[in-house]
Amino acid sequence: MSQTPSEGVPLVGGRMAAGVARVGDTVRRPVCGSSDFMAALLELLEERGFSGAPRYLGRSDGADLLSFIPGEVPARFRPWSDAQVAAAARMLRAMHDATRGSVLAGRFEVVCHHDPGPNNVVFQDGVPTAFIDFAEAAPGSRLEDVAYMAWTWVVSSKQARPLRDQADQVRLLAETYGLKAAERRVLVDCILERQSRNVRFWAEIQARPATAIATPEELADRIEWSRREHAFVHAHRGIFDAALA
Ligand SMILES: Nc1ncnc2c1ncn2[C@@H]1O[C@H](COP(=O)(O)OP(=O)(O)O)[C@@H](O)[C@H]1O
Ligand SMILES: [Mg+2]
Repeated sequence: MSQTPSEGVPLVGGRMAAGVARVGDTVRRPVCGSSDFMAALLELLEERGFSGAPRYLGRSDGADLLSFIPGEVPARFRPWSDAQVAAAARMLRAMHDATRGSVLAGRFEVVCHHDPGPNNVVFQDGVPTAFIDFAEAAPGSRLEDVAYMAWTWVVSSKQARPLRDQADQVRLLAETYGLKAAERRVLVDCILERQSRNVRFWAEIQARPATAIATPEELADRIEWSRREHAFVHAHRGIFDAALA
């Protein structure tokens, strides 16, 4: 650790926060608009015994300090095994349960992560072990996160995994999380809603004068990808709905 330069080792691969760096066993993340909420949430999760998140260690020199979680954070979306998807679903459920009835959840069901894709999960020996990147976390409904997880972990128009197998794995995710039948019936609508929201999220960034977050081409690609995935789910919703019935 003593060789680590004081400015730290840049942690690239994220999509929003420039300047995330590892310094020894800590991660320095530049303070952002949601830093206070994120800090309170990480402290709540620790208090309530949820181990799948970094510990909040304080703030210094314009950065939030988090514990570094060793393992791999996948750079790309790809198919995952049933065991990996089930582990992710259990971890999401445990995170949600730890926020129920808290001041942070307010009048909402839970605090949502809002970005629980594989790109924001640390895997240890291939097992999803912790969420990172709580910058978008906010009060919400559980289905927002379950739908986003179903999309980003399982559903893909590239069909590297055949459509019917995707539908079966979405069911596995929903059952492992513990959705009730009535919730499963609206899950496809929630996926479509999340995909539309993703288009709007990136379009709003695209509409700003200039951004360091991504190049214009990358922004256009993300919007196009979200639209394409939305069209795919819409075209095949019967197969997903049948699996979730
Ligand atoms: N607590 C942590 N433990 C281990 N790696 C981390 C941690 N926080 C961030 N990282 C690494 O830094 C990258 C960027 O951080 P992240 O919080 O996801 O920012 P972004 O908003 O840019 O996606 C992650 O993809 C991951 O590889
Ligand atoms: Mg990230």
